[in-house]
Amino acid sequence: MEVTYGTRQHWDRVASTCSTQETHASAHMLDSMLNAVGSIEGKHCLDIGTGMGALPIALIERGAAHALGIDVTPVGIARAEQHALDTLGPIRSDACTFREADAEHLTLETASCDIITCLKTIWCLPQPQACLAEWYRVLTPGGRLTVQIYGPQRECPLLTLAPRILSVFDGNSTMPRGYYGPFEISWSVLQTWLQEQGLRDIQFHEYAIEVPVHSSEQYWQIMRSIAMSAYHTYTRLRVDHHAALEAAWDRWAERIADVDGTVRLGLTWLVAIADKPL
Ligand SMILES: C[S@@+](CC[C@H](N)C(=O)[O-])C[C@H]1O[C@@H](n2cnc3c(N)ncnc32)[C@H](O)[C@@H]1O
Repeated sequence: MEVTYGTRQHWDRVASTCSTQETHASAHMLDSMLNAVGSIEGKHCLDIGTGMGALPIALIERGAAHALGIDVTPVGIARAEQHALDTLGPIRSDACTFREADAEHLTLETASCDIITCLKTIWCLPQPQACLAEWYRVLTPGGRLTVQIYGPQRECPLLTLAPRILSVFDGNSTMPRGYYGPFEISWSVLQTWLQEQGLRDIQFHEYAIEVPVHSSEQYWQIMRSIAMSAYHTYTRLRVDHHAALEAAWDRWAERIADVDGTVRLGLTWLVAIADKPL
């Protein structure tokens, strides 16, 4: 049965095929968020759209007093809880909690979080501006918001190849109308939204990587770590179209591979840092 993009059922399904394993690309993105949060010793952190909980777990490992990950999917929340337990152990994982919640309607007290993070998620939200207003509400005065977005589409072939391959098999692999999509929230759009909320000292840090990919299998494992919905679509299609999906990769690889047969695919992203005035 098809489910509509963005519904809880959709994200439940995506969470069931996510991995807790990082790839080079996802680990680099995680690090860029950790660089952006600044000093976290003793602080209360909130991660929006936490997925498998990698960011709150890393924040606890680096000294945060408490990290809460919220997400719409109960399937994902259960997996994130287990991931925290496995990584941090039973005592430290008490400081890393997860809760089912909508990014736009947080059941948290006003001015209760020192740091809010949002990685690979803002374009998945139907009303990002309303979400930013809600995040501003729960941020403490002097608190910090960090939000990741992608660079221009032309600089992100690592990401754009997946929908191209999937669209050959599944006409529905693009995001539905009403969502911004991963390349539609540019730094200038995000900067305006952050300013409109009253956030100050807004900075953008830029990152660029080039990822060597040696096989179709490796490519889809990278997608599993950075483009979970696309990977989920791939897993559904793989059941019926395994050989054809491999052939689709081979066709692309032939066109763009180096002389040694390695495909190198670029990815750029930005991390916005914005502080709530005291
Ligand atoms: C692409 S995943 C990113 C997960 C994680 N931040 C990471 O970096 O791996 C987007 C996440 O946003 C969650 N999500 C989607 N809509 C949401 C909403 N309205 N409120 C909270 N979480 C949401 C999804 O369930 C999913 O876990």
